[in-house]
Amino acid sequence: MGLFEYINKSKIAEFNGISGPSPSFPLGNLLSFVGENPWETIAGFSINYGEICLVWFGSSPHLIINSPDLFREVLETNWTDYYKDSPKKALEPVITSYSPFLANPPAWKSMRDSDSFSSPWSPKWISQQVLILKESIKLRTNGLAKFSSKKSLDLTHTIQKMSFDSFSISVSGKILPESIYDIFTYMGKVGADRLTSLFVPKYIPSVFFYWKRRKWFSYFSKLVKEVESNPNPNSSDLINWIFASGSKYSDKGTAINLANVFYGGVYSVTSVLVTAIWLLSQIKNKHFEEKLKLEIKETFNKDNEITFKEIEEMSFLDKVVRESMRIFPPVPLYLRNSSKSKVVKLGKNRIPPNTPILISNYALHHSDVRWENPLEFNPERWTKDVITNNPYGSDYFFPFGRGPRACMGMSYALINIKLTLASFYSIARFEPDLKSNYVQGFFFGVMMPQTVTGKIVLDE
Ligand code: HEM
Repeated sequence: MGLFEYINKSKIAEFNGISGPSPSFPLGNLLSFVGENPWETIAGFSINYGEICLVWFGSSPHLIINSPDLFREVLETNWTDYYKDSPKKALEPVITSYSPFLANPPAWKSMRDSDSFSSPWSPKWISQQVLILKESIKLRTNGLAKFSSKKSLDLTHTIQKMSFDSFSISVSGKILPESIYDIFTYMGKVGADRLTSLFVPKYIPSVFFYWKRRKWFSYFSKLVKEVESNPNPNSSDLINWIFASGSKYSDKGTAINLANVFYGGVYSVTSVLVTAIWLLSQIKNKHFEEKLKLEIKETFNKDNEITFKEIEEMSFLDKVVRESMRIFPPVPLYLRNSSKSKVVKLGKNRIPPNTPILISNYALHHSDVRWENPLEFNPERWTKDVITNNPYGSDYFFPFGRGPRACMGMSYALINIKLTLASFYSIARFEPDLKSNYVQGFFFGVMMPQTVTGKIVLDE
């Protein structure tokens, strides 16, 4: 018996029957996660150890699950046996405990039910976003193309600012000041560092952080107050819609929730956009880029306007978005803990209380049982039948999670992504630098592509 086994004898016994890579003292299996993204390591373990696998972060046991049946149990059929633990500690200073993303039942339920994204009017509000966002995205693309005809740009930074601006317009009807964007990125960095730190308490935010945070939330409180004193029922922004609906929120609650929308969505939407634009810019995929541009041209040409219905009907655009998220899921890893108070049954196994479970869609999105040539970018694979058999939130395709805690912002995110791509490709394309590469990084719980550089080139 090795030192690791000797020290952790009783814990190991609790997981009898679940195999995994051999741990060693003192790091357990942590070294396996060095130099690679965690979801890639997890996918590797899944191939070697099957549908459930035990790994050790130091002396802390974690389970990796990798079969549609087990994901269904944890996220859907037995979801009440599991709760969210780790992101709460890391992200609470940034997105507050008011966020349904971090809360656990029973508080979670009332937060989710009363959130504007769950309201009956949400689909109508989303459908109105098309007109207010389209022009701003085109304007920004034009400006960037002028700038970038001389100088190559970092696509992730560029798209992140563009997404922040489009979220700003959806939420408040206007582009928020640069100083507010700076606070957003600063607080996001603190959250990202805390999330990836193995020693979260070491990342105690500074007084400076709390000062910035106060500015961030009070800015949104001010926007809410402005609408209260001068509401505009014809406006398409979220604050006016919430006000018109007679929201139950306190001012503070509304403001915090609105601020949370940015952290829930900007990074993940940026991830999808950069991924799709990068994939389409590759020489081997140029025919897909052409096909998308043609579809967009035909749609825009009818009356030079685009409607929500037309965006929804653009079938190739829809395929490009699905395929980008299948290959590089924007949220490839999150966690659940099993019940604090009882042993939970998971498949054939009995799981000791409070065991963290790593949830990653990466391996199943790449499973050759379901997907032919899984690593190949091929939007055409999404035929009508494939879409029907693999809807969002299903066994082999769940970029937005699945079950009762699946993403609340999915419909808005999809329309934002599609509209940005349609507006962008209606006038321009991206030409990557010769040396540019696509490297997956991890930021604020989101897979954030790094080092994609190149030029935005306007069509002739
Ligand atoms: C491409 C964009 C997005 C992706 C890929 C994405 C992905 C996800 C995933 C995987 C989850 C489930 C996490 C879990 O089960 O622990 C989730 C939850 C959530 N998302 Fe998103 N998201 C996106 C955009 C958005 C947007 C735009 C918003 C807000 C407007 C948002 C708000 C939320 C919230 C509040 C939850 C927590 C739901 C709950 O626990 O009840 N997301 N998202």
